[in-house]
Amino acid sequence: MKADASVSPSPCRGCPWHEDFPVEWEADHYVTRRELAKFLTQGSGLLAAAGAALAVMGARPEHTAYSAQRICGVGEVPAGGSRLFRYPTEEDPCILVSRPDGEFRAYSQVCTHLACAVVHRPQSDSLFCPCHHGSFATNDGRPTGGPPTRRLPQIRLERRGEDLYAVGVEI
Ligand code: FES
Repeated sequence: MKADASVSPSPCRGCPWHEDFPVEWEADHYVTRRELAKFLTQGSGLLAAAGAALAVMGARPEHTAYSAQRICGVGEVPAGGSRLFRYPTEEDPCILVSRPDGEFRAYSQVCTHLACAVVHRPQSDSLFCPCHHGSFATNDGRPTGGPPTRRLPQIRLERRGEDLYAVGVEI
């Protein structure tokens, strides 16, 4: 870094340490254009990396594992049928749906609009909220009609032999 010619020389010129540290004190805070550009580029890069990391973390569904809990036997819910249960606590109503393709899905029964209980509508393969006519898809819980904008929290299922277990919640 070069000292600006307009800056007055250090009063310590000639001091013993000046030979080891020849930077003029008044010029010490001056930064070259190159240094400033380097600093701004690195700072922008760090901010972009932090923003990308936060975006990835925010987009990823949040999985919460709870202890496994048996819901029912596979044969107890016919295709197109449903069954109510509570998970992970007795305060959390959920609904298990047997889809027409034979797949099982389970969701929180609490509507993401204003928390009414959704019910299964096999004729339209949907979960319906009677409060404001909201509806959700049974394959992934996304809202398909009415005021809800957020998907239903999904209960992770695991088949163990002939039994279905709830093993976690995906928010
Ligand atoms: S509470 Fe479900 S649609 Fe309003």
